[in-house]
Amino acid sequence: MLVLSFVGIVPGVLLKNGIIDSYEDRAVLQRSIDVSNQCKILSNQIYTYGYLTDSYSEVINAEVEQLAGMLDGRIMVIDNTFKIVKDTYVLEQGKTIVSEEVIKCFKGTNTSKYMKKDNYISLTVPITDTITKETIGVILVSMSTDNIKDSIVILQQKATVLQLGMGIVILTLAFYLARILVKPFARVSNAIEALNEGYINEKISVSDYTETELISDAFNKMMGRMKVLDDSRQEFVSNVSHELKTPLTSMKVLADSLIAQEDVPTELYKEFMVDIAEEIDRENKIINDLLALVKLDKTAADLNITTVNINGLLELILKRLRPIAAKQNIELLFESFRPVTAEIDEVKITLAISNLVENAIKYNTENGWVHVSLNADHKYFYIKVADSGIGIPEESLEHIYERFYRVDKSHSREIGGTGLGLSITRNAILMHRGAIKVYSKESEGTTFTVRVPLNYISQ
Ligand SMILES: Nc1ncnc2c1ncn2[C@@H]1O[C@H](COP(=O)(O)OP(=O)(O)O)[C@@H](O)[C@H]1O
Ligand SMILES: [Mg+2]
Repeated sequence: MLVLSFVGIVPGVLLKNGIIDSYEDRAVLQRSIDVSNQCKILSNQIYTYGYLTDSYSEVINAEVEQLAGMLDGRIMVIDNTFKIVKDTYVLEQGKTIVSEEVIKCFKGTNTSKYMKKDNYISLTVPITDTITKETIGVILVSMSTDNIKDSIVILQQKATVLQLGMGIVILTLAFYLARILVKPFARVSNAIEALNEGYINEKISVSDYTETELISDAFNKMMGRMKVLDDSRQEFVSNVSHELKTPLTSMKVLADSLIAQEDVPTELYKEFMVDIAEEIDRENKIINDLLALVKLDKTAADLNITTVNINGLLELILKRLRPIAAKQNIELLFESFRPVTAEIDEVKITLAISNLVENAIKYNTENGWVHVSLNADHKYFYIKVADSGIGIPEESLEHIYERFYRVDKSHSREIGGTGLGLSITRNAILMHRGAIKVYSKESEGTTFTVRVPLNYISQ
């Protein structure tokens, strides 16, 4: 607001000073022109009356005195021997004057000088012989500019009053305008403040200005995203608790039923203990997967990037999974189109691809096949994992990367899935700035394709 008032007042001050200065200059100039014109008439008369040689002319004396009185100044008439023929102040009459101005005037230039400090104008006008065009004398006038100064003082006073008035008007205007202009923004911040204390689901709306509307919209969008995040976090926590509790519940049931019975045969004990051990394994698996996922949720700065031979890496993964495939009599094939080396985090990519191949084996049919292939261009390497398995229903395709999502809960559980595998895979691939895609047809098979840059792209 202060700035506003400054912006309003400063031009006023500049304007005032500018106008007064130029008024003074103009007034002085005008005065000088008027006086020299009058002096020209006088100089003609002086020549005609031959006053320079005979200074007793009543007419000229009266004229000179009258003009001096009118100008409130002093007039001297000087002849070509620099003798002062007439001085209205009488003081210098008959004496000789040698001044720069007078000499200049004899040489043909009129002079006019304004002494600002001493408040007077001094000017010279030549007396010319109309026949020979020779300068035969000079009229030297000095007059006070007090009346100009007086009017300037009056002007200044008026301007100051005007300026004060303007200042007050501008200040009040600035004050009110600032308050009016800022109000909607205060409303925005109040609305945000209110939301901070209260509930996240509400929306703010301040549509006074386009700007405040834009701020409101951006804020609401951000709140929306926060809500999505918050919802998914809550869902994750409740899923985690549920998943971790399931094996515990089973163990509790198994243990309780053993406790409740008397004289339990050893075989039953053993059977139940095997079941309990299985549940412990499952609990372990869930916890391991969760830990892997949490690690992947951290920033990409945690990646441990090295140059890795991808062919070797895939062969190692397949070698590890071959026994599981053999159990279900599934053919596991690897096809490589070229040798590939890339800058990756070996542990994380291994985890990602292992999950895909594991799924392809797990969700397969007896005597089925799994084909893994590797290819590359100048920028990316591509891994394809195709199977002849049960496939994924179309409506599930968009959910398979969600944590804990399983198409067929009971079947998947039987197979030993946690529903975390694909979200681990996807996170790991995205951390490498890669992409993953799935094509699937129910009871025909599924194909996952993964694309990862050969050179690691840091953020
Ligand atoms: N190759 C595949 N063929 C058929 N279904 C699959 C395949 N891969 C994943 N799925 C489905 O996607 C779900 C999620 O997979 P994933 O996240 O790895 O969890 P899970 O622990 O169950 O393997 C699986 O439960 C399964 O229903
Ligand atoms: Mg899996």
